[in-house]
Amino acid sequence: MNKIEKVPTNPIKVQDNTFRDGHQSIYATRMKTEDMLPIAEEMDSCGFHAMEVWGGATFDTMHRFLGEDPWMRPKILKKYITKTPFAMLIRGQNLVGYRHYADDVVRMFVDKACEIGIDIFRCFDALNDFRNMESCAERIKANGKEFQGAVCYSLTDVRLGGEVYTLEYFVAKAKELEQMGADAVCIKDMAGLLSPFDAYDLVSAIKKEIKVPLHLHSHYTSGMASMTYLKAIEAGVDVVDTCLAPFALRTSMPAIEPLVAALQGTERATGIDLHKLLVLGEHLENIAPKYNHLLANHKLSIIDNGVLAHQIPGGMISNLTGQLKEMNALDRLGEIYIEVVQTRKDMGYPPLVTPVSQIIGAQAVLNVLFGRYVRVSNQLKDLVLGLYGRTPLPIDPELTKKILKNYKRGEEPVKGRPADYLEPEIEAARKQIGNLGRTDEDVLAYILYPATMEKFLQMKYAADLPAGGAVKNIPGKKVAA
Ligand code: CO
Repeated sequence: MNKIEKVPTNPIKVQDNTFRDGHQSIYATRMKTEDMLPIAEEMDSCGFHAMEVWGGATFDTMHRFLGEDPWMRPKILKKYITKTPFAMLIRGQNLVGYRHYADDVVRMFVDKACEIGIDIFRCFDALNDFRNMESCAERIKANGKEFQGAVCYSLTDVRLGGEVYTLEYFVAKAKELEQMGADAVCIKDMAGLLSPFDAYDLVSAIKKEIKVPLHLHSHYTSGMASMTYLKAIEAGVDVVDTCLAPFALRTSMPAIEPLVAALQGTERATGIDLHKLLVLGEHLENIAPKYNHLLANHKLSIIDNGVLAHQIPGGMISNLTGQLKEMNALDRLGEIYIEVVQTRKDMGYPPLVTPVSQIIGAQAVLNVLFGRYVRVSNQLKDLVLGLYGRTPLPIDPELTKKILKNYKRGEEPVKGRPADYLEPEIEAARKQIGNLGRTDEDVLAYILYPATMEKFLQMKYAADLPAGGAVKNIPGKKVAA
């Protein structure tokens, strides 16, 4: 042993996100299950802490674009991946859809997700209002699975300064998660805003206050994430999320391979075999030509420097540009950047994450074109009304009054947990979908995506007929007799 080579006394654990967030970030979530299978067993033998295989946008894109039943992917992968726990990303009361669902839907969804093989649920809420995670958490725990509570990372000012997103804010949020029963806590940096030295301070501070393991999930978007991981590892973070190199970097996560190499011979060495990873990467290179048309390659740079300057994620900028183009007002993009910052402040500084980022962005456009809050979207009214949850800071009462004036859903903001205002949904949906809802999974999927799922279910059950249908081709899918 070389005299500076150390024994890995505290190996960093690695969650592989190649099969979910990786292709979501690089290929708009379009990777087919059949392309995962050739390397599934080999991935299982790498020694990853967990593999993220479901959640986020997978449910949406699988049935909409891939002709696959979303419930099947974990079931199929479980046949090949027997040792490594499966993780999913779940948006609290939003599940894997785009609105808040009633508690009966949330409970049944989590139960079914446990049944199809999800072991770890990374649960978050766009406003960091953890009341929106209570129903999920209760079912995850009841099923004996891991409830990983995530706090969305955002900034008010550099070096964790400003009114909201300070060191104290994140430490308090981590403690809140632990108190509500989280088996692990995750810092979820979806826009790649977390800088290396802030990560060091953040991880050090949170590790002092909580007993459960701490995860860090960051995106490479701004170009900082690999540096950020290194400082977080130095500060004692327990688990980081990576992808195999071909599905890493850009707006995805840092790559696993350089991390393995960088930590070799240190106390925090991963114990993962680099050569094995290279072979797995080869497979992804081989299937890449099928998917490369989905790669955003309009710019030479693989990082988005703009995020460093204005914190606005690339996806949000393309939405804004689209909206301005439609309104023939592309020349006002500069004003919009400034207005987004103001609108976010007016709305109590929510993190810029789906769906709140779109709501703020769209409102900023309306504010610039028609005057501030002269025209207001219904989604923004709902946000002000409290239907998404509590905003990090309260919204000014005068502005609240102006925005909610004559709003049909109410003029007085609600104080309770948003789901308390929702009626149960399952029985009504069962009646609506009729005999296309043959299983609870079908009914849940229909509630999440009514229009596209109805079409999908028609196709799925068309496979019962001798003529067959597109769904017959799903790997491992048994065509009903
Ligand atoms: Co992510």
